[in-house]
Amino acid sequence: MNPKDSEDLTHVSPGTVMGNFMRQYWIPAAKSSELEVDGTPMRLLLLGEKLVAFRDSQGRVGVMDHMCPHRNASLVLGRNEEGGIRCIYHGWKFDVSGQCVDMPSVPAHLCFKDKVKAQAYRAADRNGIVWVYMGPNQDAPPPLPMIEATLLAEQDVDISFMMRSCNWMQALEGDIDTSHFGFLHVGHLDPDEVPEGHPLQHTAGERAPEYHVRDTPWGTTYGAYREVKPQTTYWRFANYMFPFFTQTPQGEFPVNIQARAWVPLDDTHTMMIFWRRRTGGPRSSAEPLKNGKPLAGARPAPDFHPRDTSWLGRYRVVAEESNDWLIDREAQRTKRIYSGIDHIGLQDQAVTESMGGITNHMHENLGPGDVMIARTRRRALAAARAFAAGTPAPGLMEPEVLMGARSGFFEMPSSVDWQQAYAQKVRTAERVLKSQAAPAPAPELAPAK
Ligand code: FES
Ligand SMILES: [Fe+2]
Repeated sequence: MNPKDSEDLTHVSPGTVMGNFMRQYWIPAAKSSELEVDGTPMRLLLLGEKLVAFRDSQGRVGVMDHMCPHRNASLVLGRNEEGGIRCIYHGWKFDVSGQCVDMPSVPAHLCFKDKVKAQAYRAADRNGIVWVYMGPNQDAPPPLPMIEATLLAEQDVDISFMMRSCNWMQALEGDIDTSHFGFLHVGHLDPDEVPEGHPLQHTAGERAPEYHVRDTPWGTTYGAYREVKPQTTYWRFANYMFPFFTQTPQGEFPVNIQARAWVPLDDTHTMMIFWRRRTGGPRSSAEPLKNGKPLAGARPAPDFHPRDTSWLGRYRVVAEESNDWLIDREAQRTKRIYSGIDHIGLQDQAVTESMGGITNHMHENLGPGDVMIARTRRRALAAARAFAAGTPAPGLMEPEVLMGARSGFFEMPSSVDWQQAYAQKVRTAERVLKSQAAPAPAPELAPAK
């Protein structure tokens, strides 16, 4: 990476290469439950823009520049009442489209409310999440993306949020970096302690996995592999999906319906949103080991700060740089927990935040284990730059392309080519939309050897 690549990849404000690209896509921004009808307006930071979000009397979500278009007082202070948000300074009122609908501080014959509009963005509720479209086509936004986990009905999915204090790509890269798993998360796990058939069975010993990567219509895919018995290959597939989504392989492929979004709040803060199928999904890697206990260092949930109303006040964990992410040096020294940090997500949080807000990419020395990261950076950069040069953003108008992306693990006869193995498993995987025939992933590379 040169400095220009690094900047184009990481910066997301309006007018930047990546910022303009991301604005073409719908962005998951909040839980629907965060906004109550006629409830308190919420500060919302997205792609470096300070916004206000509210739900009006009819249940519609409004998302707009937080500064009132009269004289810039913050609408976060506003009164959410009777179908709109009213600025408390001079009483101007705006509906969810940003249109000024009342101007009570101006004499009726001089009223010019029809000419005033706040900079507002389209918003939509789907399956418990508020999505925001910040792109230029506000009158005709693209369809919502068909990332499978986001199509699960609310009662069938667990959705969790966690804010991370570093750049979005830096955070996302933890999901496509299979070689850290055997160290950061399970470096203390003795493979002999893992029962037959346990989800961690093959990863405990996989400290230096080999894998293939390829470009796909939705982004990139890797397949990590190892021979686990004669003529049988154990595969772990994962995906990057434009512009900032991932699927990781922690679960049996046919039922592993999950996804993560790494939504940039600004250049150095990212909201992780995790969708995980609740019922009928993959078995948990927290299942007991031979000693009857679950994996050490994998407590179910981290501690969060109480929510506050500041720009970065939602879903903040207590563990952070100022307290060394609550690292337990005794646990680390005795190898009870390899990292010394007790929670899988916090382990990722600690290492990626420790790199700095935006890490210095010129100081890196990428190795063979980083080919997925290198390829994904190139793929995202190339797509964003191609968009800047006039090429449509990939997948935007064909959201069903995302139905071809699935992550997880499975075993397959070693004679089957890796892309065919993937295509075969995708075709027979359980689907969220039963009526939707699973499209085969379009292979871009050569078929079987
Ligand atoms: S600043 Fe909002 S109404 Fe005057
Ligand atoms: Fe991780």
